[in-house]
Amino acid sequence: MTKSSAPGKIILFGEHAVVYGRPALAVPVTQVHVDVDISDSAHTGIWIDASDVDLHAELNTLPSDHPIASVINNLFFLSHASPFPNLEIKISSSVPVASGLGSGAAVTVALTRALAAHLDYSMTDEDVNAFTYEIEKLHHGTPSGIDNTVVTYARPVYFVKGQPLETFKVGEPFTIVIADTGIPAPTKESVGDVRRLWLNDRSRWETVFDKIGEISFTARRAIEAGKCELLGELMNENHVLLQEMTVSSPDLDRLVEAARKAGASGAKLSGGGRGGNMIALVKPEMAEPVSLSLQEAGAKNTITTQIS
Ligand code: MEV
Repeated sequence: MTKSSAPGKIILFGEHAVVYGRPALAVPVTQVHVDVDISDSAHTGIWIDASDVDLHAELNTLPSDHPIASVINNLFFLSHASPFPNLEIKISSSVPVASGLGSGAAVTVALTRALAAHLDYSMTDEDVNAFTYEIEKLHHGTPSGIDNTVVTYARPVYFVKGQPLETFKVGEPFTIVIADTGIPAPTKESVGDVRRLWLNDRSRWETVFDKIGEISFTARRAIEAGKCELLGELMNENHVLLQEMTVSSPDLDRLVEAARKAGASGAKLSGGGRGGNMIALVKPEMAEPVSLSLQEAGAKNTITTQIS
């Protein structure tokens, strides 16, 4: 049996603007993960069991553009697997789908690593990252590459599209509460809508993206210097710019408000927006009361994570 696992992620600062070349900060979230187990099968074919998304099927019965099928077929092609082995592939995930926590990238990274190991096909982290980016492009339109990068390397990243991997040090650990609106929202749609806004008025949106890029840059300096008390205000500013970009939603705004009222130093949506998750910066002792307030305000789930 071959196993692999990949974490979820959150974007701390810079989503959407990152698609247009501005820096963004993302960190892995290990409390949620995708786990893949592959074993040789006595039955002919490649049997996929992903109960979390209600998928129990043989590879050839899936449409060729199915995300899981495209990972398997592309990897067979790259590794020159011939004849195709008989396999059982079990995928389990605690990363909610279409919620800004990187579930697509986590499935691809975990499945790619497990399958490559099972086929004795050697892949470096760079190979896995590049492969996952290609798969992300197939399914998400024009991704920046931040999701595959943070999930592949499972480290905090300061990401600029097309630039080499840059990680950053966390001077002083800080605590984030993540809350899920419970509303799935495909990233492809919000990214497409932002593109339409940008095509209609490039100079306006370039200015907004610049402001967000400045926020990411300042936030990185603050995190490295251990001045995390500065991050709350930066989150609030970033959220206003995301609202202007139309990617927030009444549910996200309600949770952001609730977190601030309950004592968070700042809060914003995280990821593609329109639904999915928001994040709040809290003092460690405030994690519990803020989580409770978020649940009272309608959050379907909350996760507290320490960034270190
Ligand atoms: C999605 O996690 C982050 C976005 O900026 C899209 C991307 O960077 O590909 C919304």
